[in-house]
Amino acid sequence: MCGIVGAIAQRDVSQILVEGLKRLEYRGYDSAGVAIYKDNAIHRIRRLGKVAELDEALQQNPLPGGLGIAHTRWATHGEPSERNAHPHMSQDNIALVHNGIIENHDELRDELKAKGYVFTSDTDTEVMAHLLHEELKTNSNLHHALFAATKKLDGAYGTVAIDTNQPDKMVVARSGSPLVIGKGIGEYFIASDQLALLPVTREFIYLEENEVAEVRRDGVTIWDEHGNTVTREFEVSDIQHDAVDKGQYRHFMLKEIHEQPSVVSDALEGRIVNHKIFVETLGQNANKVFEKVEALQLIACGTSYNAALVAKYWVEEFLKIPCLVEIASEYRYRHTAVLPNSLFITISQSGETADTLAALKKAKTEGYLASLTVCNSPASSMVRESDFTLITRAGTEIGVASTKAFTAQLVSLMLLMVSIGKAKGMDEQTEKDIAIALEHLPYEIQAALEQAKEIDELSKEFAEKHHTLFLGRGSQYPIAMEAALKLKEISYIHAEAYAAGELKHGPLALIDSDMPVVVVAPKDNLLEKLKSNIEEVRSRSGQLFVFADESAKIQETDGITVFPVKSEYSITAPMVYTIPMQLLSYYVALIKGTDVDQPRNLAKSVTVE
Ligand code: AGP
Repeated sequence: MCGIVGAIAQRDVSQILVEGLKRLEYRGYDSAGVAIYKDNAIHRIRRLGKVAELDEALQQNPLPGGLGIAHTRWATHGEPSERNAHPHMSQDNIALVHNGIIENHDELRDELKAKGYVFTSDTDTEVMAHLLHEELKTNSNLHHALFAATKKLDGAYGTVAIDTNQPDKMVVARSGSPLVIGKGIGEYFIASDQLALLPVTREFIYLEENEVAEVRRDGVTIWDEHGNTVTREFEVSDIQHDAVDKGQYRHFMLKEIHEQPSVVSDALEGRIVNHKIFVETLGQNANKVFEKVEALQLIACGTSYNAALVAKYWVEEFLKIPCLVEIASEYRYRHTAVLPNSLFITISQSGETADTLAALKKAKTEGYLASLTVCNSPASSMVRESDFTLITRAGTEIGVASTKAFTAQLVSLMLLMVSIGKAKGMDEQTEKDIAIALEHLPYEIQAALEQAKEIDELSKEFAEKHHTLFLGRGSQYPIAMEAALKLKEISYIHAEAYAAGELKHGPLALIDSDMPVVVVAPKDNLLEKLKSNIEEVRSRSGQLFVFADESAKIQETDGITVFPVKSEYSITAPMVYTIPMQLLSYYVALIKGTDVDQPRNLAKSVTVE
């Protein structure tokens, strides 16, 4: 949520900042700005809209300088506008950028106003700039002043500041919002995601919670929350430079959809040998904990929550232990009762989602056996906060609408389910059946992708509609939920998912000839029930689009369009049926002309409440 870049170098850093912002645009994209130190002053340019607007402004008014900070915003306090865009300044000498939310900003604003500070924006961030300025009156060193200022903040922040009176440094602080420091030769960089800095460095240090750092041309000093100096080595990242390149594809989302066969293969690599499943990288003594597990509590948001719901069906079928699933924003604020010997599992692409992270921190005080995260970001807060980790290996996902990360989560959750099962005595045949299904999955997904043209054609039926219903049963119900989320997210068509059996309890009233109803209908033990639900819709003139296995023998007739999907193994069918759903939402969005990779009002990584 919001992207930060900072740089201090001998050379001009303005283009490094803009390139970094472009790479972070997936995090927020309603306004952007830079502040650059040049000729003993801070010069600031901000623009409403995407980073391209800022880039254009800088082309027209170049601002070369060796010290600068930059920001791309996703509005929380104050509408998207130039005056609310970061960096925010105090008295012409302090410039500051911020990710997160300051909860006590009202009270701090009143105090600062009483001291004569004039506010020019509606943001919580401007409070931080003035507070830092105020602290500099008693703490002349910039990092001391930032340290003192952060002690007065309630809320979350990742922040970078510069001061015209101390132009040999940037100072940074983190609490609840990630920041990474990059090292060059005689130059250093700061960003909210290492992706921003890949053109200039591969060497990184992540700032830990409540740390403050001073970043100079000749080095970095980090202090912990007690003011003690911290020693930490830079590590070389193996992330691919082209992770932020669309290649031959028109959108990142399309590229990421098409990457799924290799994403699944990567997730399985080294983990299936002779039809046996081994996941050895979860952490020390994971197996000992798994032996004792009698229940699972899964927590996530959005797409990751839908993945958790699919896993519930698998866990209760194969492990025969209770699997509770809950949305993180609900879990974190309610009184919870923990089942005996429960394992707490978070699922997250980014590993930084504020609600999921807060739920994890809460769970650590509640008597769970242990915590485990299924996460796509190895250096994330959730990975650091959890006892055990399963990395989903989907690679960097740029499209705000999650696609390949979802499939990788499902595969990882299945591997995790088997790992727990084996520790608790799962029989070899069950393990073998699951292993075989997983081994075939990349090919089944590839076959589903090859139907992209037909789905493109089908999408025309949806583009003019205002609503769509998605129906599924069993483990395909969460797939219908994920399909509805994708359609809403990128095409802005209102979509809902229902467990097909629930239709008659209310939603059937919505059905008429203008209501497209998408049904996910694999061949499984619920197919006959689902056929009855299809009839319920057809007899009320609903317009049905049924994604079904050929053997399901659902006849195309008036009001029913059948789209064939091949999925041999019912356990992995949720992953296979996900593909046409993703393609459908993508092609509908293309017709509607929305911003597919950066849909309105959204951001990739939701690090604020
Ligand atoms: C999905 O397309 C969304 N962009 C969103 O629902 C996302 O899955 C959710 O915000 C959770 O993010 P996380 O997996 O990074 O925790």
